[in-house]
Amino acid sequence: RLLIIDFGSQVTQLIARRLRELSVYCEIHPYQNVTMDFVRDFAPKAVIFSGGPDSVTRDGSPRAPQDIFDYGVPILGICYGQQVMMQQLGGKVEGGKISGGGGTAEFGRAFVTPEGTLPLLNGWFTEGDEQVWMSHGDHVSQIAPGFEVFGTSPNAPYAITADRARNFYAVQFHPEVHHTPNGAKLYENFVRLAGFSGDWTMGAYREQMIEQIRAQVGDKKVICGLSGGVDSSVAAILIHEAIGDQLTCVFVDHGLLRKDEATEVVSMFRDNYNIQLIHADESELFLGELDGQSDPETKRKIIGKLFIDVFQKHADTIDGAEFLAQGTLYPDVIESVSFSGGPSVTIKSHHNVGGLPEKMGLKLVEPLRELFKDEVRALGRELGLPTSFIGRHPFPGPGLAIRCPGEITRAKLDILREADAVYIDQIRKHGLYDEIWQAYVAILPVRTVGVMGDGRTYDYACALRAVTSVDGMTADYYPFTHEFLGETATRIINEVQGINRVTYDITSKPPGTIEWE
Ligand code: XMP
Repeated sequence: RLLIIDFGSQVTQLIARRLRELSVYCEIHPYQNVTMDFVRDFAPKAVIFSGGPDSVTRDGSPRAPQDIFDYGVPILGICYGQQVMMQQLGGKVEGGKISGGGGTAEFGRAFVTPEGTLPLLNGWFTEGDEQVWMSHGDHVSQIAPGFEVFGTSPNAPYAITADRARNFYAVQFHPEVHHTPNGAKLYENFVRLAGFSGDWTMGAYREQMIEQIRAQVGDKKVICGLSGGVDSSVAAILIHEAIGDQLTCVFVDHGLLRKDEATEVVSMFRDNYNIQLIHADESELFLGELDGQSDPETKRKIIGKLFIDVFQKHADTIDGAEFLAQGTLYPDVIESVSFSGGPSVTIKSHHNVGGLPEKMGLKLVEPLRELFKDEVRALGRELGLPTSFIGRHPFPGPGLAIRCPGEITRAKLDILREADAVYIDQIRKHGLYDEIWQAYVAILPVRTVGVMGDGRTYDYACALRAVTSVDGMTADYYPFTHEFLGETATRIINEVQGINRVTYDITSKPPGTIEWE
């Protein structure tokens, strides 16, 4: 496996992505944790130093453990990682404009010109200079003994350098980003030089994790909160495979789920996977507490708090449980390491199964901590989850409560469920489901007048929402055809009692959000 030492770059995660795409197993660890003992324990076959925001010219700035250079494995330094390498191996780094020195800072697109040949650069420079993405204030002004230059750019005379005898490579730019179009090739060459065959698969991960879960849990019991979403489901199935009936899942049904959702989740886990499951039907409690509440944040807070109380109540019935399983993913782990997370405004107080309280006094089992979302899906397929389940759109923790602006009533929820089911059916029938990030119906807190047959109707209006997005942070509305929208509106009004008007929400995010509340 490969060790990435994180010096705090915003794009460290992308290095891991590129390597995983090459079927090489790697882990990112913050430089503070990487001591020589850690390195020996980890036993990497190669090491990558990430970029980072600091300046190596500053006293006390991040370093790698000095002995890592004698550990005998190939090392690739990127940007700040390059400078750390040069500094620690006897070269010189000067501050650029950013850190107050006199050199030239460089941000954005640059072109590197080759000098000599280097196996790391196979497949590079085939069409002249290579486009790369630079982002640095400081620059190397003198390379370390043993290094030679293999590429230069107008502002970085040491854009690519290498100590071939020791298999040390240093680049000033970021090969992991999209704007270094041929960057993946460089990583591929590096891992081949380091002797990786690229045989890391989901099957291997599954086996490895099962061993790890058994070792961690021993003969103790584990509780897992199931939401019906992909992450917690995959985590539960994997843990069940490792420890069988030592696992009990708690599925809190807050009465705000979609049509047939609770039944489907329960039958999938109980019948298909034979997992012990507590189906906590607490809809009375949730809907009771939400009665008369119309403020979005109040609704969210009520649901979040009740969820924790209810989960805890049911977890307490499982005697002797010592572990809590969570479907934490790699991006959640990394964000807490690499990003300083400045003060930001709360747009919505989020709630999900992942946020269960520390005061429960349980140790965590997080078998997905090292995976990206698409890898979790691949693992889900490996574990036999149906493709339709794996590809499902995200569904928010507070459920239909935030798709029912204003006061929530059982009657409105029932109407909403029916309308949503027709809408999703339409989308599936037209083969559009996988093109859309999220699609749902919101029931509006207004009733409007209509005419059906010869009679007057006075029923609810609803809004259809469908967005495209890559991460839910920004989104655009999906450009349905007029035919599709017309057909869907007709179906909803004909098939769903209680709705007589359908609108389509064409707000992007920002300024809108994906959910209505
Ligand atoms: P917004 O509405 O903020 O939503 O644009 C962005 C994404 O987050 C989902 N969402 C939630 N997910 N707990 C969750 O687990 C929540 O409280 C929550 N609120 C919004 C939303 O469905 C969309 O995918």
